Amino acid sequence: MSKKNQTLGEFIIENQTEFKYSSGELSKLINAIRLAAKVVNHEVNKAGLVDIIGAAGDTNVQGEDQQKLDVLANEKFIQTLTKREIVCGIASEEEDDFISINSQDENHQNKYIVLIDPLDGSSNIDVNVSVGTIFSIYRRVTPVGTPVTLQDFLQPGRNQVAAGYVIYGTSTMLVYTTGHGVNGFTLNPAIGTFYLSHPNMEFPETGKIYSINEGNYNHFPQGVKDYLKYCQKEEGDRPYTSRYIGSLVSDFHRNMIKGGIYIYPKSSMASNGKLRLLYECNPMAFLAEQANAKASDGFTRILDIEPTELHQRVPFFCGSRKMVEKAEEFMSK
Ligand code: AHG
Ligand code: MN
Ligand code: MN
Repeated sequence: MSKKNQTLGEFIIENQTEFKYSSGELSKLINAIRLAAKVVNHEVNKAGLVDIIGAAGDTNVQGEDQQKLDVLANEKFIQTLTKREIVCGIASEEEDDFISINSQDENHQNKYIVLIDPLDGSSNIDVNVSVGTIFSIYRRVTPVGTPVTLQDFLQPGRNQVAAGYVIYGTSTMLVYTTGHGVNGFTLNPAIGTFYLSHPNMEFPETGKIYSINEGNYNHFPQGVKDYLKYCQKEEGDRPYTSRYIGSLVSDFHRNMIKGGIYIYPKSSMASNGKLRLLYECNPMAFLAEQANAKASDGFTRILDIEPTELHQRVPFFCGSRKMVEKAEEFMSK
């Protein structure tokens, strides 16, 4: 049903009927994320002016403390979602514990929880390279009207109702899925409106790009080393091209459009890799599967992992289906 040039607002309304028992709650939630994305976009765009208007830790002209952008993005998303009273709980990379919303009010009927990585790839900000926001949405499992518990957040990724990311790149895009394919919207900054620019996004079945921090090569498992040698070998459509931005959102976005694989494996320095299952890998894995691609920890489907901790880490292999399958083949040897 999606039409190019549709605004995100129009798209949300038109597709609300996809949810049989929809009360409009999820639509409101996506709308709130759209709003927070615009606010954060505005802040990210000003990042280069930090030397002029003040660095993190300084005080600005109003006497307010300047904040680091990842902290600021965290605040903006939490504020937007809290004030509009459309979720019952939020967990974030920037918060040690989850936040329970309206836990004192027995009348609150909100049934969704959100997990976010408010600013992904934040080390790229100072050098004017793309960063992103990642979000993941679930229905709570504990009864509506009671305070949320950890159980509501520790659900396997396959239970996700929606997931997506915002990429603050050469243009700003919001890409998301509600389990009916993946759609990408580009922000027209002049009028602050997102337009459907990339309907029904899909990874090519295979590709020629591999994205991994090769500086850690010596610490990788043998399976990953062997797969990298395979990528570099001159044979058939190889050698592949190496592209690594160091921002999962940006690396994923490029690979989805061009075809490729992203790997953040475990290593002798980090036994579960670096990326977080709940607000980095699960949402990206849901998007990947909805876009005809694959995501695993090298052996098992990411979306089937039963989480045990809010901030748990997991090795991540994600991208064009054939490439992930090939990497898994090397891992199992
Ligand atoms: P964050 O900025 O939210 O901490 O995440 C950064 C992540 C991910 O986006 C990126 O792919 C990876 O860290 C890069 O890690 P290395 O610098 O170890 O390659
Ligand atoms: Mn991140
Ligand atoms: Mn982050």
